[in-house]
Amino acid sequence: MVFVGGAYVGAQSPSSSQANAAAGLPFSGIPDEMIDRAADILDSEPEHPEPEVEFQHRPPPGAPPLRLRTLLAPHRARVLLVVALVVVEALATQAGPLLTQIGIDQGVLRGSFATLGIVAAVFFAVVLIHIGASRARTALGGRLGERLMYGLRVRVFTHFQRLSLNFYTSERAGVLMSRMTSDIEALTMLLQEGLVMMVVQGLTLAVITGVLFYLHVPLAALTVGVIVPITVVLSLWFRRATETGYNRVRDRIAVVLADLSESLAGIRTITAYNRRRRNIAQHQAVVTGHEDANVYTTRVSSVYAAAAEGIGIVGQAVVIGVGGWLAIDGRLTIGELTAFALYLTAFFAPIAQLVVLYNAYQQGQSATAKLRELLEEAPDVREATDAVALGPIEGRITFEGVSFSYRPGEQVLTGVDLDVPPGGSLSIVGPTGGGKSTIAKLAVRFYDPDVGSVRIDDVDLRTVQLESLRHQFGVVPQEPFLFNRTIGENIRFARPDASDDEVAEACRVVGLDSLIDSLPDGLDTPCHERGSSLSAGERQLLALARAFLARPRVLILDEATSNLDLRSEAQVERALDAVLEGRTAVIVAHRLATAMRADRIAVVDNGQIAEIGSHDELVAAGGLYAAMYSAWEAHAAGDAAAQDARPAGSERTGASDDL
Ligand SMILES: Nc1ncnc2c1ncn2[C@@H]1O[C@H](COP(=O)(O)OP(=O)(O)OP(=O)(O)O)[C@@H](O)[C@H]1O
Ligand SMILES: [Mg+2]
Repeated sequence: MVFVGGAYVGAQSPSSSQANAAAGLPFSGIPDEMIDRAADILDSEPEHPEPEVEFQHRPPPGAPPLRLRTLLAPHRARVLLVVALVVVEALATQAGPLLTQIGIDQGVLRGSFATLGIVAAVFFAVVLIHIGASRARTALGGRLGERLMYGLRVRVFTHFQRLSLNFYTSERAGVLMSRMTSDIEALTMLLQEGLVMMVVQGLTLAVITGVLFYLHVPLAALTVGVIVPITVVLSLWFRRATETGYNRVRDRIAVVLADLSESLAGIRTITAYNRRRRNIAQHQAVVTGHEDANVYTTRVSSVYAAAAEGIGIVGQAVVIGVGGWLAIDGRLTIGELTAFALYLTAFFAPIAQLVVLYNAYQQGQSATAKLRELLEEAPDVREATDAVALGPIEGRITFEGVSFSYRPGEQVLTGVDLDVPPGGSLSIVGPTGGGKSTIAKLAVRFYDPDVGSVRIDDVDLRTVQLESLRHQFGVVPQEPFLFNRTIGENIRFARPDASDDEVAEACRVVGLDSLIDSLPDGLDTPCHERGSSLSAGERQLLALARAFLARPRVLILDEATSNLDLRSEAQVERALDAVLEGRTAVIVAHRLATAMRADRIAVVDNGQIAEIGSHDELVAAGGLYAAMYSAWEAHAAGDAAAQDARPAGSERTGASDDL
């Protein structure tokens, strides 16, 4: 059965649309007379079965570095076939002037109709061969180019999935986008048309050179001897001049895209702080940089193109002068001179073409170099070759003497020791920038410690397979990310096979059900990019529902309730009590009401564990936590009074709206 525009083609009886019309129902589906045609079209569409993805966290061993040669190598047979067709095409094109010469010398000048007829027939056959070869070459070459691009896109994207978080902190998203857009496009141009055309033109040159020598050796030697050395020297200069030029173009377009993507992502802040004008100026500056780089390469190309053309004209003048003199002298027939002149014109067409193509080639090479650099970037967090699959865990989390820095020399954590028993819970509190989120990230191995070890059930995280580790973790990061999908799909993110009832239950537990009930499309409501159509608190509830639905052995919550009003927070906390039953949890919380529900509390200050113990122990100890607690108590009393004074139903809007 086939789906077309929401209607089952196969299920539609021939008279269904008339029946609908007769019944006064609106028209739906495909008109009867078009069903067969539609089915034909669908039949001719290529089938794309669900792709089977083989993903490994380690880059495949022995993959050759990306170069044009290694890119083409696996498709050697097809490449050779395309080249063979190109040879046929080039030979067929160049048969024209030769046949003209035979036609003039043997046919016209001798008055032989038979010869003329044969020559015309051969000419016709050659044209047919040319058309056939050209069509086959374009189709084959095009398909090969598309396949190569498909492979490359998937390869680069897979590598993006493999790279560690550190890479994404240091590389701008826009720059990475440019690798996938402008760089891959430059390469597509080269592979789709450029390379084939280069072969065509190169071959044409070779064939014509051969024919020129066949026609008249001294004249050919004179022409080629003048033109070729000058062209070679010119091309070498061009290559050197454009290599840096095109690299600069690639770098600058990346900067343009990076600036663009940042401006789009930050449009709210830009608007709020009246930065639109300055943003335009900033973008103008980067676009100018790109323009300059392009102007430079265009200038170099213009010199090359003009010089190449000039050489051609000089060559033609030489041929007409010397060739004409030879013809008058009787050492060259008129037909030969005509063919020579025609071939020489044809000799310069490929040279001019090669100039343009060489340009495309240089751009493609620069793009390949950029993509190669990216593909050679190794993930920081690597899966060991002998990594073992982690079985179902009990959930003991241990940090032993962990020191960590995001950048060399900027220590963020120093000598952190933690031990959360299976099923236990630990809260992490402490001042902003103290290292709380960093601890949460190390627990899921987003990063590896510089010193010490992070273990789960006493197994070092560095020795286990990443997927077997992470699928036992539920993480609600400090800034939860929602995808441009429906609310339901976002909740199902960790467990796409969860039933509707389970999704509904997860929503109910975190208190997202009232929001979903109020939406006309319920769970099918789209979230928009990054969940920008939801409030910050709603995004957090959604991320919590997502983590709860995953039913992980270990839950890591980083400020998961920081944007909720007190009532929603209380509901989530009650839900947490139920969800955490038998699970290990690490809860980073600024709000002490949340923190104190855990079995133990660790105060992280300046990258170190300042204190650790139960709520009562820490209050009794009279240290940092005790001070935080008494400040919070005083504050919470004020907050509760304010909450009581609010009109009913205003809870949800209490969540702070981020810009
Ligand atoms: N990706 C990163 N690259 C470099 N430095 C980072 C990175 N992430 C965090 N830091 C630095 O590490 C330190 C600890 O950051 P972390 O996010 O762990 O703090 P936190 O305790 O969670 O703070 P908050 O309460 O504000 O969430 C900070 O000084 C921060 O500037
Ligand atoms: Mg944090």
